[in-house]
Amino acid sequence: MSSSNVTPHQASTTSSADGQQVSLQLNDGTQIPQFGLGVYKTPADETAEIVRYAAKAGYKMVDTASFYGNESGVGDALQDFPDLYAVTKLWAADLGYDKAMRAFDESARKLRRDVVDLYLIHWPMPKTGLTAESWKALIELKNEGRIRSIGVCNFQPAHLTQLIEETGVKPVLNQIELHPSFQQKELRAFNESLDIRTEAWSPLGRGAGLDGEIVTSIAKKHGKTPGQVTLRWHLELGNIVIPKSANPKRLDENLDVFDFRLDEDDMQRIATLDRADGRTGPDPDTAEF
Ligand SMILES: NC(=O)c1ccc[n+]([C@@H]2O[C@H](COP(=O)([O-])OP(=O)(O)OC[C@H]3O[C@@H](n4cnc5c(N)ncnc54)[C@H](OP(=O)(O)O)[C@@H]3O)[C@@H](O)[C@H]2O)c1
Repeated sequence: MSSSNVTPHQASTTSSADGQQVSLQLNDGTQIPQFGLGVYKTPADETAEIVRYAAKAGYKMVDTASFYGNESGVGDALQDFPDLYAVTKLWAADLGYDKAMRAFDESARKLRRDVVDLYLIHWPMPKTGLTAESWKALIELKNEGRIRSIGVCNFQPAHLTQLIEETGVKPVLNQIELHPSFQQKELRAFNESLDIRTEAWSPLGRGAGLDGEIVTSIAKKHGKTPGQVTLRWHLELGNIVIPKSANPKRLDENLDVFDFRLDEDDMQRIATLDRADGRTGPDPDTAEF
């Protein structure tokens, strides 16, 4: 990846409006594209075609997981687009040192990658007591050069603190549910205090709320769509963002967010959409799979 357009880690506003995508610096010295494609619920037999379409359109990252059942499709597309930054995840049922090692082998085989750019623990599963030893497997795989960067998903502050205390190694990022109805201000600040990037999953809230008055009126003002305003809001906050679409028109629409900025008034209005009960996914403290 080119080192141009790399934004230093602590900058809170990170994405330019000159049509260019940026990469962000991670705490292990590597870089990650700020914008990518999510493929949760993308049908396995359509995944290769969709990822190829996205890569041709200009997407630089793809986010999958063993749980999604479509890593092989992503792997097919990676054959044609070897520079695509590839992310996959260790599923909850595969926690434990040996199981994590085997699960990574399987994911890397399906992705057909000798080196995976980013490997994430999918859920903390604190009750299993297996999180730290799983993390040690990821550390070992990184030391062997089979993973460039290691991170986590759905970690609350206590999970991050315990992981770092037990292993001494920080995740590069924490991928969490984050959208205008659930803005995660405290967790974003906690991540940043540890030099851990925040990545937003369900950045569009899976489409819910895109027809609300505030986002719709901001979209009209900028000549953009509600989805584009929502993605731009993430970029203004400095979040890494991975919207999912299996529709070519929306794949193009979602990528077209690098030629405008939201102003302070737009940001303040979207801030009012935050809801304490806005979480749609499982609670990381109690989730069981
Ligand atoms: N770590 C975790 O625990 C975790 C959990 C969930 C998700 N994720 C990751 O995050 C990615 C994104 O999250 P997500 O898939 O849950 O939700 P999302 O990206 O917020 O929303 C995807 C949904 O919105 C629709 N959509 C896409 N673009 C749109 C637009 N411009 N306007 C209106 N609707 C639009 C899509 O439909 P079409 O496909 O028909 O366009 C799809 O139904 C996932 O794919 C996955 O990679 C991670």
